[in-house]
Amino acid sequence: MKRLDGKVALISGTARGQGRAAALRFAAEGALVVCGDLLHEEAVETQRFIAREGGTALAPGPLDVTEEDSVRTWAEEAVDAFGGIDIVFANAGAVRFEPVDGQPYDDFGSTLRAELKAVWLTAHAAWPHLVRSRGCILTAGWTPVLGGSLSNRRTAKGGVIALTQQIAVEGVPYGIRANCVTPGMIDTAGSRADLLAEDHPMRDIARHIPLSRVGTPDDFVEAAVFLASDEASHITGTHLVVDSDWSTVLPGAAH
Ligand SMILES: NC(=O)c1ccc[n+]([C@@H]2O[C@H](COP(=O)([O-])OP(=O)(O)OC[C@H]3O[C@@H](n4cnc5c(N)ncnc54)[C@H](O)[C@@H]3O)[C@@H](O)[C@H]2O)c1
Repeated sequence: MKRLDGKVALISGTARGQGRAAALRFAAEGALVVCGDLLHEEAVETQRFIAREGGTALAPGPLDVTEEDSVRTWAEEAVDAFGGIDIVFANAGAVRFEPVDGQPYDDFGSTLRAELKAVWLTAHAAWPHLVRSRGCILTAGWTPVLGGSLSNRRTAKGGVIALTQQIAVEGVPYGIRANCVTPGMIDTAGSRADLLAEDHPMRDIARHIPLSRVGTPDDFVEAAVFLASDEASHITGTHLVVDSDWSTVLPGAAH
């Protein structure tokens, strides 16, 4: 028996990075995966990779996690295809790293939309189906929330952890669990375009990570599989830090 056998899992941001890795791994663990991403072609490619490995997946149409209709349609298509929803992984995100001083207000707003409000929308759309399945919600945090600085994303991801805890409280009467995976620095297209980019002041970030390496998408996904599985049936309202203790040595960290 696999760890997610027969579970219907919606995962956002499956075109690349952690979302694609999660889709492949959840499917390998027996989940029926519903992919979704703005980059639809790449999400379909993820679906093909899963099918090639003998798994089951669907990539219904372009998904925009910041648009209510798009998220609702995505959830409905999952239910039409597979009869329900057991796991929702609100993984997609897009950030513009900037300090308060000098950042256009609209950029701050777009980060909150893509990284925080999108989590609310995803949980909201899936909620009635999760009530039926006594399912679970996963979200993606970020380790500087624990004490570092690094700009507006801290605000959004701090909100994600708080929202996850709120959802966990509201989910208790229905048997719905909600947990957050909180990574440090994971090597993906997203991180290579900002913090790990050639000209970024934090590029030598790996030197500050206690275990001396940037994480891989699989590091993140291992935690997600655990939290989604029955092994974590007594765990809700928490966030699991996957950062090799980077949070304690971050520049600007409180300790
Ligand atoms: N990589 C890291 O170091 C790191 C660290 C902490 C948290 N995270 C979080 O983990 C999640 C995944 O990160 P990643 O590094 O894999 O990112 P990534 O940029 O490599 O991939 C994100 C995916 O989300 C999709 N996406 C963005 N906006 C979308 C929208 N509005 N609707 C649908 N899809 C959308 C993108 O097209 C992309 O495929 C994000 O929430 C990110 O904030 C990543």
